[in-house]
Amino acid sequence: MNTNARPSPDDFARGLAGIVAGRTAICSLEGDLRYRGYAIEPLARAGDFEEVAYLLIHGELPTHAEREAFAARVHAAARTLDPAVIDALARLAVACPSASPMDALRTAVSMLGQIERDVLPGSREALLAQAERLLGQVPAVLATWCDLAAGRAVGPWPDGPIASALLQRLTGRTPPVDHVAIFGTTLVLYAEHEFNASTFTARTIVSTGSDMHSGITGAIGALKGPLHGGANEQVLEVLAAIGSADRAEAWLEEQFAAKRVVMGFGHRVYKDGDVRAKLLGAMCRAMNSGKPAAEAIEQLADRVEALMLDRKKLKPNLDWPAARVYHALGLPVSVFTPIFVVARMSGWTAHIIEQIGDNRLIRPLSLYSGPAPRDYVPLELR
Ligand code: COA
Repeated sequence: MNTNARPSPDDFARGLAGIVAGRTAICSLEGDLRYRGYAIEPLARAGDFEEVAYLLIHGELPTHAEREAFAARVHAAARTLDPAVIDALARLAVACPSASPMDALRTAVSMLGQIERDVLPGSREALLAQAERLLGQVPAVLATWCDLAAGRAVGPWPDGPIASALLQRLTGRTPPVDHVAIFGTTLVLYAEHEFNASTFTARTIVSTGSDMHSGITGAIGALKGPLHGGANEQVLEVLAAIGSADRAEAWLEEQFAAKRVVMGFGHRVYKDGDVRAKLLGAMCRAMNSGKPAAEAIEQLADRVEALMLDRKKLKPNLDWPAARVYHALGLPVSVFTPIFVVARMSGWTAHIIEQIGDNRLIRPLSLYSGPAPRDYVPLELR
């Protein structure tokens, strides 16, 4: 398109649906979901978040030594959160203890950026180091906020992989091995997903020449919305609102009649089902099998899935099983979307580094739909 010409309605796609807005070597959804060329299934089954974060940020799977050194740097960042951030969060926790942990993460990342005094433009080495620090700092901020908001002293960051350390911090218990495994799988599945709204937000912000922390702060804000990351918290509310399988049909009919979307279903890109939901759904059912309360939730989920397919031809997205997994692990609903942030930090930072490495300002056009040209009338004559 001639960029000096007036935009044509033919160029317009509501919500940018179907528009190719850039190139990426990080993730592909063409045919199947792959991170840097590797199919998602084996990565998800291994459930090693540090390995996947290294792959996304550095571009290759790590050797054993590279993984250990990377994990040591990330975990050190989690253990050494700047006292100025903890202090500010402590004040906010007193002032507004019921604030969303998403807001605490957004505020804390912004503060971390201020403390780092980002130099523009950042070198690739500086950006990689920032990405690794953020990977450790963000889960530590989440755990810190949960302690402070509950009026507890801030606990130490445990040893071990992020999956086990974060689960331990958020539940207050040493998690069993199978819990760590499935939690790690959710982190891998949430880690990256191409040009979704929050990633595109981050890329747009840094395309102006701005810094990584500004990009991540904006991305957290974008992820918070219920049409994006916020959906996993709403899924549990859906299940609680329906209550039991026999009430599912009537409840859904009410939503359809009111033209409300059902959280955890549908996807802008996957119109024939989300591969991540299939993978995690099977693991979730296996984990909950034989546990009466959890099995009742699974039966309710199965019924809703069948009805959504029958009535709307819609299949679940990743948030549908992820919410059930987090509930079964004993996590409070308020940390579901923040956990998504912890995982997506790897994808966001990888995209920011990629955007900065081959940048062109992201600046689309709009179709004007306002009043026809009219004459200005001075204030005293109006
Ligand atoms: N429940 C009920 N109806 C839904 C629906 C849902 N979850 N998702 C889509 N639809 C309906 C739309 O309202 C639309 O109906 P219409 O043609 O009568 O207007 C139709 O299905 C087609 O929607 P589509 O264009 O495919 O949606 P989208 O690509 O603009 O939106 C989502 C994608 C994800 C925003 C949307 O599916 C949604 O809101 N889902 C619920 C929130 C969610 O789970 N988000 C997490 C995404 S990973």
